[in-house]
Amino acid sequence: MIPPGKALCTAGIIVGLLAFFWRDTFNPDSISGARVLLTGASAGIGEQMAYHYSRFGAEIVLTARRETLLQKVTEKCLQLGAKKVFYIQADMSSPQAPEKVVQFALQKLGGLDHLVLNHIGETPFQMWDGDVEHTRWLMQVNFLSYVALASAALPILAESKGSLIVVSSLTGKISTPFTTPYSATKFALDGFFSSLRHELAMQKQDVCITLCILGLIDTEMALEKTRGKVYMSAYPAAEAALTIIKGGATRAREVFYPWWLELLCHLRDWFPNQRDVVIQSFYNYTSA
Ligand SMILES: NC(=O)c1ccc[n+]([C@@H]2O[C@H](COP(=O)([O-])OP(=O)(O)OC[C@H]3O[C@@H](n4cnc5c(N)ncnc54)[C@H](OP(=O)(O)O)[C@@H]3O)[C@@H](O)[C@H]2O)c1
Repeated sequence: MIPPGKALCTAGIIVGLLAFFWRDTFNPDSISGARVLLTGASAGIGEQMAYHYSRFGAEIVLTARRETLLQKVTEKCLQLGAKKVFYIQADMSSPQAPEKVVQFALQKLGGLDHLVLNHIGETPFQMWDGDVEHTRWLMQVNFLSYVALASAALPILAESKGSLIVVSSLTGKISTPFTTPYSATKFALDGFFSSLRHELAMQKQDVCITLCILGLIDTEMALEKTRGKVYMSAYPAAEAALTIIKGGATRAREVFYPWWLELLCHLRDWFPNQRDVVIQSFYNYTSA
């Protein structure tokens, strides 16, 4: 039997250590005047990130396909305090788009401190239907365009000792049903950018890569797709957006939102068969 005094002391040390490692080290001033290129900025989490960056006084280039939405987001960013805001319309299914977007940002901002890769192509939330062509297209939008954007921006980020922020998903760490092509693109991001992180460190390049692992977030698109198909509650997009920005600014290697996804990822490989049964119980098969 452990004496109560000793047990209390040990618990206190553990709580103290957890509080130390999980303390918020984010300094909003580090974003003031930062030059940011943000993809998928016309809606959802990207739109919310644009507003947060604006409140912190960043200089921003926004990109997505829908110009009317980009115009509206731009106006709101200026009202919220962004130092500069520009937008460029681009479709990331085009292999030429990434280079064009990075050159535009460089020309408008004169450099880059944060590159936030966030856009995703439209994909059905359903059982695999054998559509290989869609998977190829989604790989281009969700993965290859990220690789191309990062490659074009790396020399500029190396100059500024900047941050490369890659928005991913729990389905890029733990596979889930109804997301076959999407999950493949997100696992690919982890493979590519985690390998690149090694190489940058080995080359002593001071560019940080932050991989962001998100759960279900209450964007219009996600709620519409998952309605009646999953038994989970969605977390707020504005909070997810702030967590991503803080992760990039504090140069974290990975951020998790909600926070408990980190525990899930650590436990991922412990009991794979039981894990899969639990995961499947959160999905409604009959309505897929
Ligand atoms: N919402 C969730 O539950 C959830 C969960 C986990 C991870 N995430 C991740 O969070 C990020 C943002 O997701 P979200 O829910 O905010 O998505 P969203 O609301 O659907 O927004 C997607 C953004 O990408 C842009 N986009 C779509 N197709 C494009 C294309 N071909 N070329 C360029 N831009 C394109 C869209 O604008 P246009 O249509 O104007 O081009 C929009 O700005 C994604 O990386 C996603 O994987 C989301």
